[in-house]
Amino acid sequence: MSPNLSNISDNKFSIEDLQSLVKSELIGVDTIIDHSLHSDIQLIEGIAKHIIYAGGKRIRPLLSLISAKIFNTTVPSEALYLATAVEFIHTATLLHDDVVDDSDLRRGLQTAHQIWGNSASILVGDYLFAKAFELMVKTGDLAILDILSQTSAKIAAGEVLQLTHSHSLNIDETIALDIIGAKTAELFAAACQTGALTGGANSEQAKILYQYGYALGMVFQITDDILDYTSAANRGKNLGDDFSEGKITLPLIYAYHKANAHDQKRFTDLLTTADNCEADFKIALDLIQTYGGFDTAYTAAKRFADEALNDLRFITSPLVHPLKNLIEFCLERQA
Ligand code: IPE
Ligand code: IPE
Ligand code: MG
Ligand code: MG
Repeated sequence: MSPNLSNISDNKFSIEDLQSLVKSELIGVDTIIDHSLHSDIQLIEGIAKHIIYAGGKRIRPLLSLISAKIFNTTVPSEALYLATAVEFIHTATLLHDDVVDDSDLRRGLQTAHQIWGNSASILVGDYLFAKAFELMVKTGDLAILDILSQTSAKIAAGEVLQLTHSHSLNIDETIALDIIGAKTAELFAAACQTGALTGGANSEQAKILYQYGYALGMVFQITDDILDYTSAANRGKNLGDDFSEGKITLPLIYAYHKANAHDQKRFTDLLTTADNCEADFKIALDLIQTYGGFDTAYTAAKRFADEALNDLRFITSPLVHPLKNLIEFCLERQA
């Protein structure tokens, strides 16, 4: 029998519990962050610290560190450099993404591009990417450099692919899943895979962690796309951003495909209105609900959650249990 989420042990970890499993390593990551962000150019430090010290869930470095610890209880310093590099890649993509999406709020703060402008945001995003590569070199492992440079290209390609499909409601589910895979799941996957490698995993073991991370990243982004419409919690970014940007995400795609011709036209009108007001958002929300868009997206997320769980069957370690909890966290999160 293949496992499913109801088989996850009752012994639940919160995200804080999971962080405490690699507490000293996360402190080490913070030290490397502090060191790496020092710059004589005030604008670089200002923007980089603004976004990095605003917090964030630090899920990707957590994944790298736990993946390393599975194979080596004494996490090597290379894993700390790697985990920091992964967080820097993620942060660089956020700086760029907020320009592309014209978002106002990130990690509960005004976005960098709103404060310092688009050019400065993009350039400091580039700087963080470059810093990430410096840190990867410190791992001394060409395989890690290979994986993460390919991942960076995939993320950028995913964002471009998404751009080419913005406002196209008739987009195929497969393309939508490819976009999510490239822009989000690939980094989750690489964080796990490279983390495992720093811990001494062989390439097959690391590949299993890649697959787990990929499926987990799919769960994470799909739930994020649902929460963008529905969350009542403070997520540090604005509710309804995707709709007002005209971003076509899974809840919308599934609802649109089920809608009758009249409602399909309503969707199209709503998505092509230049300046969407709150009332338009409410109409879109109701329409998506009516056609089961959120439920269908959640079912898709659950499918990936089961895939992630299935991948863990091939790993023997007490740390498998927290990795299972992380699946549940990504699926059930409200923020
Ligand atoms: C935001 O990622 C981008 C997405 C993939 C949706 P996170 O939600 O992990 O962002 P932080 O790091 O916690 O701010
Ligand atoms: C997330 O992009 C992925 C990247 C930043 C590469 P989104 O645009 O979907 O995420 P949020 O909603 O801005 O965090
Ligand atoms: Mg965005
Ligand atoms: Mg985006």
